[in-house]
Amino acid sequence: MRIAVLRERAGERRVALVPESCTKLVKAGFAISVESGAGAESGYTDEMYSQSGADIASDAAALVGGADIVATVNALTNETERDAIGWLKPGTVVLGSLMPLRNLELTQALAESGAQSFSTDAIPRTTRAQAMDTLSSMNSISGYKGVLLAASELGKYFPMLSSAAGTVFPAKVFVIGAAVAGLQAIATAKRLGAQVTATDVRPEVKEQIESVGGKYVGIELDEDASAGGGYAKELTAEDQARQREMLIDEVAKADVVITTALIGGVFAPKLVNAEMVASMRAGSVIVDLAADGGCNVEVATPGETTVVDGVTIIAPLNLAATLPEHSSLLFSRNLTSFLETFSEEGSFSFDAEDDILAGSLITNGGQIVHERTLDALKSN
Ligand code: NAI
Repeated sequence: MRIAVLRERAGERRVALVPESCTKLVKAGFAISVESGAGAESGYTDEMYSQSGADIASDAAALVGGADIVATVNALTNETERDAIGWLKPGTVVLGSLMPLRNLELTQALAESGAQSFSTDAIPRTTRAQAMDTLSSMNSISGYKGVLLAASELGKYFPMLSSAAGTVFPAKVFVIGAAVAGLQAIATAKRLGAQVTATDVRPEVKEQIESVGGKYVGIELDEDASAGGGYAKELTAEDQARQREMLIDEVAKADVVITTALIGGVFAPKLVNAEMVASMRAGSVIVDLAADGGCNVEVATPGETTVVDGVTIIAPLNLAATLPEHSSLLFSRNLTSFLETFSEEGSFSFDAEDDILAGSLITNGGQIVHERTLDALKSN
């Protein structure tokens, strides 16, 4: 089978497969065509792809039209000048982080193209699927980079330092939401020497927070907030009110707040309100890592940095793409693991009984088949 790798849309610096993976997949029997310049923004040149055994193509439409599998970072688009969905031949396998719940119209168009698409952000969070889990590898990068953004914006040191000029005390960092991004944020802030406190609504994360050097704060919930699969659901109004009291105290004490909370892994609950922001010392910093899901901070704007009451609020979109060499490498390894697991002699085969394939299948035979996407379409 032939795998096509497109240059991603403007603003996306990652590439779906890096040369290291092409070498592996060619060895496994696949043929690979890469659009010229696809890896340019992540440090992977056409020459490196050629050396890995891939062909370089300059006609993107012919590249997609001649492919059996299209590997992509983001959902394919159907823009007039670059109609990747329109170029697909029916039955082509599309593999990438398609984020169907955030891209309902594109998912509908992808279904109509007859593509068999798999979204790596929908694979079950099981041990077997871990190596294919793009959400984990990308969220870990945002947790790390989010702390670096905060540290470079804050007018204070993160660590405690003693010098001839006297002692300065460590910065206080408060992390809200402690799954993959949050835990990496805690670990990174801790490595930089900050004093780190963190919260989550799933009580089982207390030990995980402590294991990466954070102090846990939380409230006893009246109703369990676990939605299964490690995801959280929205809190009841009573629990929200009690959590708000705790957040008021913790946010006011922090020099830096990093928010990473998502409901069902997709949408961001509003947790930090304008009064909490106003209670922070001028010069404090908030990094809203849930910006792609709509922001945890009421007064944050996705993709923008704003200053409110003297507090700098950074709400970066697609943060993983700002570390493009490593984010591409890890993303590519995730896709390669998926392709190697479900292929033999360079040929991908679909098994509806496999939990990873069944869970990540989004469109098939002209239809959307992914239940959560269908539910989202109904309520849209
Ligand atoms: P996510 O990005 O969906 O959510 C982030 C965090 O926000 C979650 O921990 C959630 O409980 C928390 N949250 C939601 N509402 C909140 C609120 N009101 N206040 C405070 N926190 C709130 O999480 P991610 O990183 O996608 O991980 C989801 C789950 O999958 C986790 O349980 C994680 O441990 C698990 N996981 C399992 C893997 C595996 O076994 N292969 C791999 C990666 C993650």
